Amino acid sequence: MKKINRVFIATSLDGFIADKNGGLDFLNFDWLTLTPDSNSGGMGYNAFVKDIDALVMGRTTFETVKGFDVPWPYKQPVFVLSNSMTEIPESHKDKAFLVKGKLTDILAQIHEKGYYKLYIDGGTTISSFLKEDLIDEMILTRIPILLGGGHRLFHELPKCVKFELVESKVFMNQIVQNHYKRVAL
Ligand SMILES: NC(=O)c1ccc[n+]([C@@H]2O[C@H](COP(=O)([O-])OP(=O)(O)OC[C@H]3O[C@@H](n4cnc5c(N)ncnc54)[C@H](OP(=O)(O)O)[C@@H]3O)[C@@H](O)[C@H]2O)c1
Repeated sequence: MKKINRVFIATSLDGFIADKNGGLDFLNFDWLTLTPDSNSGGMGYNAFVKDIDALVMGRTTFETVKGFDVPWPYKQPVFVLSNSMTEIPESHKDKAFLVKGKLTDILAQIHEKGYYKLYIDGGTTISSFLKEDLIDEMILTRIPILLGGGHRLFHELPKCVKFELVESKVFMNQIVQNHYKRVAL
């Protein structure tokens, strides 16, 4: 079975995935009187999520999603990266699993459980994976707003990582979504 680590994330024009308060209001497209779900299944998100075996997300993103006033959105197991958490809250113990340590060891444990197609989520987490050249695909959806600060998607890397564009889509005449695949340098 092919092992693959994928990213599907929305950013502002200036490259932030959440505002200075961790807020995601910029993802609401009410200014166009359209909602993301009115367009091709959440701009491809629904189809993307259906096709993965498990998620690996940072503690901040886990806490954000857990705090949403909606039922838990994932059917697949969620592996939560954290050095500060000691255990997953009781409410989510059947859905989420705490992992820590070296990313390559964590991935080996997840693969051993039979999960190969992984959705990697959270800015710091994606950067940790990129630092070790462990991201195979990125679907980046760019919202036309400058947030001016907040949580960055990309951080400094020890070396260049090259991707090729495999597809580009425009939603609502406003939002550009680029699908990139890792290529060897
Ligand atoms: N725009 C979007 O589409 C989108 C998507 C996802 C998330 N978000 C937002 O982005 C923000 C999250 O940003 P974030 O940059 O803080 O990232 P994050 O990756 O969600 O969480 C960072 C935390 O994950 C843990 N972590 C990350 N890498 C680790 C590693 N290698 N080993 C152990 N623990 C690791 C650490 O937790 P400890 O401190 O507990 O050790 C770290 O503080 C949230 O506000 C979220 O809502 C936006």
